[in-house]
Amino acid sequence: MAFFRNAAATAVIALVTATSSSKRGLCVIPPRDNPHHAEDNAIWTTTSGSRSRLKWYYNYKSTPTEGYQDMAGFEFVPMFWGAPEGGFTGDTPFLDSVRHQVKSGSNITHVLGFNEPDGPFQYGASNIPAQVAAKEWKRQMEPLKEQGIKLGAPAVTGTLDGAMWLQDFFFYCNGTCNPDFLPLHFYGSFEAMASKIGEMTVAYPKLPIWVTEWGYSHQDLPTTQHAFNESIRMFDDWSNITRYSYFGAFRSDTSNVGPNSAMLTEKGELTDIGSCYLGGSRTNKIPHSSWAEHLRVKEKTIRLGALFALVGVLGDW
Ligand SMILES: *[C@@H]1O[C@H](CO)[C@@H](O)[C@H](O)[C@H]1NC(C)=O
Ligand SMILES: *[C@@H]1O[C@H](CO)[C@@H](O)[C@H](O)[C@H]1NC(C)=O
Ligand SMILES: *[C@@H]1O[C@H](CO)[C@@H](O)[C@H](O)[C@H]1NC(C)=O
Ligand SMILES: *[C@@H]1O[C@H](CO)[C@@H](O)[C@H](O)[C@H]1NC(C)=O
Repeated sequence: MAFFRNAAATAVIALVTATSSSKRGLCVIPPRDNPHHAEDNAIWTTTSGSRSRLKWYYNYKSTPTEGYQDMAGFEFVPMFWGAPEGGFTGDTPFLDSVRHQVKSGSNITHVLGFNEPDGPFQYGASNIPAQVAAKEWKRQMEPLKEQGIKLGAPAVTGTLDGAMWLQDFFFYCNGTCNPDFLPLHFYGSFEAMASKIGEMTVAYPKLPIWVTEWGYSHQDLPTTQHAFNESIRMFDDWSNITRYSYFGAFRSDTSNVGPNSAMLTEKGELTDIGSCYLGGSRTNKIPHSSWAEHLRVKEKTIRLGALFALVGVLGDW
């Protein structure tokens, strides 16, 4: 809570210089997790206002998303996700890929480190021992600094395990890993997130923060929307936070963080949160966890409608 107050105080000062529009980005869901990916990916770049809102994206991979290549003003940030199946070999595929893209004319200015290296594979985390990560960082991330590319530290989960993993990582780096910013994931209330971010700015005072995944998962719709609103306000105002990307850009029926966090309904329409994130106004589209639930709600409305019609008919009678 102390951190939270501190954050609020800083926010007032930061307002003057806030460059909100340049911070907001898109966390692109891997195609294998979204059967509607081509259709849905188009929403984030073609909706009115979206191109002035979303300035950058990442997709958990080293190469750009199909359809987004070389889109002016929509910066791609490659990610060194984790270990390949079977573990690391002596090759440097991530480093080679980024170098190749730069050589071919891509304007790559930032890269991201490992995705949730402190978490298990079944949650999409990359599950890497800190010692191995430190070794790979030196081989495949650190050399990119010579080209003026800014490095994002490993993006740990917002748990105590995550904080400890990061400490271990820097211990094994022994002073030779030099990230330029600190990506962070957080799922929970706004207050808990503000406190976590406060802790991280104290632990790593030289590293500005990117919140690359966040949301208040598995809550009712007003609670989810309220937390979203509060966090956007904080991120835009607080100069310590230089970029953010909401989780997320998926349909409510495929969400693994509860339907209400989704920016799209099960039918692929923008929810209030989705529209607001792109700079639009409320759509009043309610996200459902499945088509079955959607139909149940609809059926109830139809049944109620039929009842009222019947009452009306009876009344006329
Ligand atoms: C590269 O991207 C950065 C950040 O988006 C931008 O500031 C810079 O002007 C771009 N450079 C070129 C050569 O397009
Ligand atoms: C850590 O770095 C110091 C100073 O550069 C060096 O003397 C020491 O051998 C290193 N330790 C390990 C375990 O590599
Ligand atoms: C973050 O904000 C705190 C004050 O709240 C300040 O001491 C610190 O230097 C800031 N860090 C960065 C990277 O701007
Ligand atoms: C969130 O912000 C939007 C846009 O400013 C507003 O319409 C909505 O009422 C807010 N919702 C909550 C729950 O605060």
